[in-house]
Amino acid sequence: MVPSAPGTQPATPDVALQASSISRRYGAVVALADASMTLRRGEVMGLVGDNGAGKSTFLKVLSGAVVPDGGEMVVGGSPVSFRRPSDALEAGIETVYQDLALVDTMSAVQNVYLGREELSKNPFLRLLNVVNDGGMRKRSREVLSELGVGIQSVNVSVKGMSGGQRQCLAIARALLWGRQIVILDEPTAALGVRESAQVLELIGRLRDHGVSVILVSHNMQQLVQVADRVTVMRLGRTIATRDVADVTPEGIVGLITGAVPADVATPEDTSSVVH
Ligand SMILES: Nc1ncnc2c1ncn2[C@@H]1O[C@H](COP(=O)(O)OP(=O)(O)OP(=O)(O)O)[C@@H](O)[C@H]1O
Ligand SMILES: [Mg+2]
Repeated sequence: MVPSAPGTQPATPDVALQASSISRRYGAVVALADASMTLRRGEVMGLVGDNGAGKSTFLKVLSGAVVPDGGEMVVGGSPVSFRRPSDALEAGIETVYQDLALVDTMSAVQNVYLGREELSKNPFLRLLNVVNDGGMRKRSREVLSELGVGIQSVNVSVKGMSGGQRQCLAIARALLWGRQIVILDEPTAALGVRESAQVLELIGRLRDHGVSVILVSHNMQQLVQVADRVTVMRLGRTIATRDVADVTPEGIVGLITGAVPADVATPEDTSSVVH
């Protein structure tokens, strides 16, 4: 457990990430007015909301890609303030983007180790920046088989891989690097039924490894299948969090549209969000 500084709240061991009252404007557009989330260790949190509700902006703040105007974040018991994506990576947060996840011309191993290549164990070769190909291949194979990702060879380029395999590889990379939190923005949006099922199963395995997952999806059936809880956003605010066991897909849609009352007051008429 992380020791807490005098005068601060003691760290809560079962909370992986806490974001409170995050706000972000783009000129007159309020992308985030008041977004909050408590993510527990080893849980899958669904994040839902209508188009323009602020989901992607919230994820970008959590992954260090967007600096918020206000609000607080605590990761693993320590306050953090991300200025760039590498800050979030260092704090153990990996984000899997839908399209930018992998480099086409590189192999599965190269993609898994992209930007973090392991140098050769031989001290002379290390000086020449020669990488430890064998070691990286072995570790990649281990992680992929541990996760049940079916890839014929880790050495061929990922160009010919299916969308599902690519998504799985990107998720495996997060696990290989020991990330505690994995953020997925609509990972199954472009996938077929079978491939979506594979990705959802992999998300379940991440949870089995104690990793916390935030998953944005517009597919309520998939969400209730894989998520433990769901956070609903409306007009830049998080308006409700529910245990998935306590809601139906229709109930979640009701919260998204406003047919079901929110847990917090929502000043709908003061929003300047333009779609
Ligand atoms: N870089 C930007 N510049 C200006 N406005 C932005 C920018 N990024 C987001 N916005 C605005 O902020 C609001 C929230 O956008 P965001 O992309 O976070 O929504 P979302 O919930 O992810 O929507 P979707 O479901 O369509 O992906 C929108 O009104 C959007 O137009
Ligand atoms: Mg989005």
